[in-house]
Amino acid sequence: MVITVFTLLVSATPVLPDDTTTIRFQRRNTLTRADNTFDHDHAIRQNVKIINKYRANLINMQRNTGRLPVNVVSVPPLANLSHMLLGKRQTVPLTDLDGDSEWAGNISIGDPPTTFFIDIDTGSSDLWVPSLSCAQCGSKAKYDPSASSGSVAQNVSFQIQYGDGSTAAGSVYTDKVTVGGIAATNQFFAAVTQESSEFVNDPADGILGLGFPPISNLNQDPFLITAFKQHPELTNVFAIKLEKTNSELHIGDLNVSAFTGAIEYHNLSSADGFWQIGNAAALVNGRSVVSGFQTVIDSGTTIMYGPPDAVQEVYQTVNGSTLFDETNGFWSYPCATPPQIAFSWGESSWGIRTENWDLGETAVGSGRCVGALAGQDLGLGSDVWLLGDSFMKNVYTAFSFEAYAVGFAALA
Ligand SMILES: *[C@@H]1O[C@H](CO)[C@@H](O)[C@H](O)[C@H]1NC(C)=O
Ligand SMILES: *[C@@H]1O[C@H](CO)[C@@H](O)[C@H](O)[C@H]1NC(C)=O
Ligand SMILES: *[C@@H]1O[C@H](CO)[C@@H](O)[C@H](O)[C@H]1NC(C)=O
Ligand SMILES: *[C@@H]1O[C@H](CO)[C@@H](O)[C@H](O)[C@H]1NC(C)=O
Ligand SMILES: *[C@@H]1O[C@H](CO)[C@@H](O)[C@H](O)[C@H]1NC(C)=O
Ligand SMILES: *[C@@H]1O[C@H](CO)[C@@H](O)[C@H](O)[C@H]1NC(C)=O
Repeated sequence: MVITVFTLLVSATPVLPDDTTTIRFQRRNTLTRADNTFDHDHAIRQNVKIINKYRANLINMQRNTGRLPVNVVSVPPLANLSHMLLGKRQTVPLTDLDGDSEWAGNISIGDPPTTFFIDIDTGSSDLWVPSLSCAQCGSKAKYDPSASSGSVAQNVSFQIQYGDGSTAAGSVYTDKVTVGGIAATNQFFAAVTQESSEFVNDPADGILGLGFPPISNLNQDPFLITAFKQHPELTNVFAIKLEKTNSELHIGDLNVSAFTGAIEYHNLSSADGFWQIGNAAALVNGRSVVSGFQTVIDSGTTIMYGPPDAVQEVYQTVNGSTLFDETNGFWSYPCATPPQIAFSWGESSWGIRTENWDLGETAVGSGRCVGALAGQDLGLGSDVWLLGDSFMKNVYTAFSFEAYAVGFAALA
């Protein structure tokens, strides 16, 4: 098991404003086992987690705004883990979650501060950490409201349902939250008293959502929005670079040393609460095979998902590919001839390096590898794709609240 390495730096570089912060984090690609095979069980658990995360986003959106995204008629049912495991062809015993599947870094809450090790998630909009009264939360860092001078209990509760039948529930507080050098006071967050088993096994203590208010379970401003309101001197932008050894979340500015060329920005195409941009095309070996779709850029999703029909069109142009797991939407291809997959939003093509595309062999020596694009109905409509870390690892991604846009640049 790889230990997540993390350091938190307050920028000392003179070209950057004092308040600019960088959080460093690291993780490995956990869907591939040490013997280079595809960790099918873990991948199915991730699918269930992502489907149910977006289901929760839709429920929040409907409650907060009274509407659902265009093309979405109703909130989809919970994805059922045992049902999705039945779709698996091999009979491998269930393994424990490795638990190291998130990009995580330190933040602090309270005065005096308590440090929490937190997943960075652009696909949700709430901050939650374990509460002191969480019995199952084990050795995780916990929030003790009585130990913080800034703590104010809010008269609301928080509850999320997961596909393994469990729920997370807790109480809501406001307090001072600090991410790197940036502090926000009176920030809403949830202190979880009851956690799903999935999260109990995760080395991270909680999640920091970096999306917009419409999908907030608490129906409150997420941390960055509060922080930018309280710090008018900061540029309302953050950027994420995901790499094996040198990953960073950079807030209030861009790290000009981390990318080359200009940032290619695309205006957000919806006000649904996601970092969503439209007019996308998927390319296989330089040729556009599906185009005109929407993409949500989500650092809290490991791989990439598209509607099953569209994903089938992609793999049909990949030499030698076959559907490997129909229920879960995984496809395989000959490992010796990996396709060159890229996405474009009308300008450059942003290619996915083979190491970020290849999730490993279907079985030792099979010669067939699973691709990091799965066909799944996420309930977001028939033209919405979800691009997670398998995509983000290839580019420097800027998220601008000011321009209301997502931008990409080549990594330095
Ligand atoms: C991150 O938090 C952990 C747990 O409190 C701590 O051991 C570690 O030193 C922190 N890292 C940094 C760079 O602050
Ligand atoms: C989940 O799926 C399994 C297998 O298909 C089924 O037996 C079970 O009743 C389902 N659970 C729920 C809550 O729908
Ligand atoms: C908390 O909210 C409930 C309704 O949601 C209300 O009945 C109750 O009086 C509130 N309590 C306080 C202390 O505000
Ligand atoms: C900016 O990126 C460069 C290159 O990746 C890195 O060495 C440097 O530490 C980063 N600066 C900050 C302030 O994070
Ligand atoms: C993007 O949005 C800005 C306003 O925020 C607008 O001026 C610009 O024309 C838009 N660009 C495109 C390509 O639609
Ligand atoms: C397709 O893959 C097969 C092996 O699976 C290989 O023999 C053939 O040359 C490939 N064709 C192209 C056009 O790459």
